[in-house]
Amino acid sequence: MSKLQVNGERLWHTIMETARFGRTEKGGVCRLTLSDADRQVRDWLVRECRAAGCDVSIDEMGTIFARRSGKDNTLLPIAIGSHLDTQPSGGKFDGIAGVLSGLEVLRTLNEAGYTTTAPLELIDWTNEEGSRFQPPMLASGVFAGVFERDFAYASEDRDGKKFGAELARIGYRGERRCPDHKLGAYFELHIEQGPVLEKEGILIGAVTGMQGQKWYEITVTGQDAHAGTTPMPARRDAMVACARMVMAVQAIALDHSPLAVATVGHVVVRPNSRNVVPGSVFFTVDLRHPDEKVLLQIDQELRKMVAATARDSDVKAKLVNNWNVAPMEFNADCINRVRNAAKKLGYRHRDIISGAGHDAVYIARVVPTGMIFVPCENGISHNELENTRPEYLAAGANVLLNTVISYDQK
Ligand code: GLV
Ligand code: MN
Ligand code: MN
Repeated sequence: MSKLQVNGERLWHTIMETARFGRTEKGGVCRLTLSDADRQVRDWLVRECRAAGCDVSIDEMGTIFARRSGKDNTLLPIAIGSHLDTQPSGGKFDGIAGVLSGLEVLRTLNEAGYTTTAPLELIDWTNEEGSRFQPPMLASGVFAGVFERDFAYASEDRDGKKFGAELARIGYRGERRCPDHKLGAYFELHIEQGPVLEKEGILIGAVTGMQGQKWYEITVTGQDAHAGTTPMPARRDAMVACARMVMAVQAIALDHSPLAVATVGHVVVRPNSRNVVPGSVFFTVDLRHPDEKVLLQIDQELRKMVAATARDSDVKAKLVNNWNVAPMEFNADCINRVRNAAKKLGYRHRDIISGAGHDAVYIARVVPTGMIFVPCENGISHNELENTRPEYLAAGANVLLNTVISYDQK
């Protein structure tokens, strides 16, 4: 067990400092993937990593790798990472807390003059959120061989701008083939984004795995019609059909409570004019459950419900299931090292399953991977009010530091 401790005040200050890149009026952060704010925070990170003595490289997915030499640089690096992108009304911690905890670990080792045996790498994965470009966890997905690079490059935002072109525009389209880079292990710290740790007064979650997720895009087509002259029975109102489907999505999730969660978070109504009966609606469904069998059962219920509601509403509905990730477990040795580090540091800890998606989920397919959760205030996340405490983050970063050191000594 190392006696090293991170500087919690410096870590907190660093997070507050970087929250200016994309700051919103309510004190949150809007730093959509490959936006100018994303470029600014990346430039900041690259500068700070170089100042900490790291060699920085960028791969073809725009992922940033900052490498700190070890005693034996022929060994594969032990990596620490997360993401710098946010939701449109995101907070100051989702993602960047993991990257900056990693930076704090490197700074702490530098100050102590501690050289690990294996090199260390700090990573910022591009497009974890999947808000501007879908699917989420895009760069980590290409890294793990789940997606092809050109599939990612072709992903378009709502204005038709392509991921590949935007990556070049902000100057982060690197040369190295993404899946060619190899890691020895990967650790990610994240705020829990749920209420469990705070409620139970626990400082550290040793993340054992993640629940399964499915994303859908549903297009409902009725008929545009005059709002003043079209009698109610003669309408083929796509918005009304969509509203019925939204209520039914909620009912299906409630039928499988408490573990199922389903969300309609993005709706586009056309032509979006107050005196036109809407002829077309596009909406998304985000569906999650920790048990693959139940997830597949809900999938069937959702498909049947959409078809039946469309029939009853005299509209057409097209459902596309555009992203899936099965429930998964992290590496047993990595989970144990997180538990042990928390225990030795005297922090109350428990095992926990992640309700959110993380880059670690894809990286775990190719590299031994573990995750550390710290509590956040009232479990609020994907919200400008997202908050945590300096002492929680310091505890998490200390667990991260000691987990990495223990892995290095193995
Ligand atoms: C990632 O932020 C997710 O939606 O789980
Ligand atoms: Mn995140
Ligand atoms: Mn998020």
